Amino acid sequence: MTQPGPAPAPLHPHPTDSPEDSMQAIGIHDLALATAHHVLDLGDLAESTGTDPNKYRIGLGQSLMSVPAPDEDIVTMAATAARTLLERTGTEGIRTVLFATESGVDQSKSAGLFVHKLLDLPSTVRVLEVKQACYGATAAVQAATGIIARNPGEKVLVIAADVAKYALDSSGEPTQGAGAVAMLIAADPDLLVIERGSGLSSVDVDDFWRPNDSAVALVDGALSLTAYLDALTSAWDDYRDQGGVAIEEIDRFTMHQPFTKMARKALKRLGQHTGAELGDELQEVSFTYNRDLGNTYTASMWAGLAALLDLEDDLAGRRIGLFSYGSGATGEFFTGIVQPGYRSSRRAAQVQEALEARVPIALPEYRELHARVLPSDTDVETERVTKAPYRFAGIRGRARVYEATGA
Ligand code: CAA
Repeated sequence: MTQPGPAPAPLHPHPTDSPEDSMQAIGIHDLALATAHHVLDLGDLAESTGTDPNKYRIGLGQSLMSVPAPDEDIVTMAATAARTLLERTGTEGIRTVLFATESGVDQSKSAGLFVHKLLDLPSTVRVLEVKQACYGATAAVQAATGIIARNPGEKVLVIAADVAKYALDSSGEPTQGAGAVAMLIAADPDLLVIERGSGLSSVDVDDFWRPNDSAVALVDGALSLTAYLDALTSAWDDYRDQGGVAIEEIDRFTMHQPFTKMARKALKRLGQHTGAELGDELQEVSFTYNRDLGNTYTASMWAGLAALLDLEDDLAGRRIGLFSYGSGATGEFFTGIVQPGYRSSRRAAQVQEALEARVPIALPEYRELHARVLPSDTDVETERVTKAPYRFAGIRGRARVYEATGA
């Protein structure tokens, strides 16, 4: 018979760990954002259907959406974001690449392996793809913190990249978009320490999904809104049960933003649920990039975080509450503490440049691109459009081919 050992450590310690808890601080060391070649003005989309543009601008809180060129996809945006990041941080210590996406390009191979090659990363890394609708990148970041807790010298490259695509003329169409956020997760990070308390909520619900033979997502719009809000309050309750801090101890919020108005609805619901006064000034800045990117699915909440860190000047030492939601559905509420040096590596100019470099696309061209389907049984060579450093060159022998453009 085994003798009883020392009492086990609590499974879910309070996020502000006690001094005797020697767990190292782990979190986001740096991040970078990339988007697609084209931009569509939602005013043009509204005009084409006789819709009041304010339905999109005010009702949904969206102005523009990124649209990929024929030679762009999640891999090219991911590689661009990761290149920007790694030019600053280097690749030393990276032994894991986690690629989170809803819009995967292969049923078997991780999109991360294409990025791995484009960026010439060492062979001594594990590479995999993570999927749970818009939640995937949060799972990847949490997994990364676990890997680093075990091997504090290692770093994990997490990339969230998506192309949000709904049927033409559907109510989801104005909530499309495209973008990627690459993050380096490490011990003693420069930007955000991710605290250990986390609230979870999963239920099986058909609010948004994409069958294997469909290029566009299917959605029950009204159900998706209630599923999101229910996941938020359930995840919050679990967060508190796990020892998470009181709502008053959270200084800013960034939530999943399928359209920015959704996050307004979410914060209002959280206020009602907790009885706290939660004004939109606690999250308004997090809308800055997403309003012009559109929905970037897995990247959306992280683009919100990027905006907060890039554009707010007084966040050092402050706690940010993050709510990640992936239809189907999984939600997670967790928090992070902004690090003192966060302002030294800001990316606002680079993001602004990427947003402004987008080439406006006219409605007919957008609709033609949207409807385009790549043949599955013949080789394809895509036209050269993107000005990004990497492009999707086409399909040869049924395998996707990517190349550097020299940009
Ligand atoms: N001026 C100002 N506001 C106007 C307006 C006008 N002229 N006309 C309408 N509005 C407002 C409406 O009042 C409404 O606001 P409230 O919700 O605050 O009342 C808003 O504009 C939208 O109007 P509708 O509800 O009539 O819009 P809709 O039914 O055509 O479509 C939608 C809305 C269901 C969200 C649709 O865009 C959709 O299906 N989107 C995709 C699904 C989605 O994003 N769901 C979010 C939760 S799921 C998730 O988060 C995961 C994910 O990424 C997909």
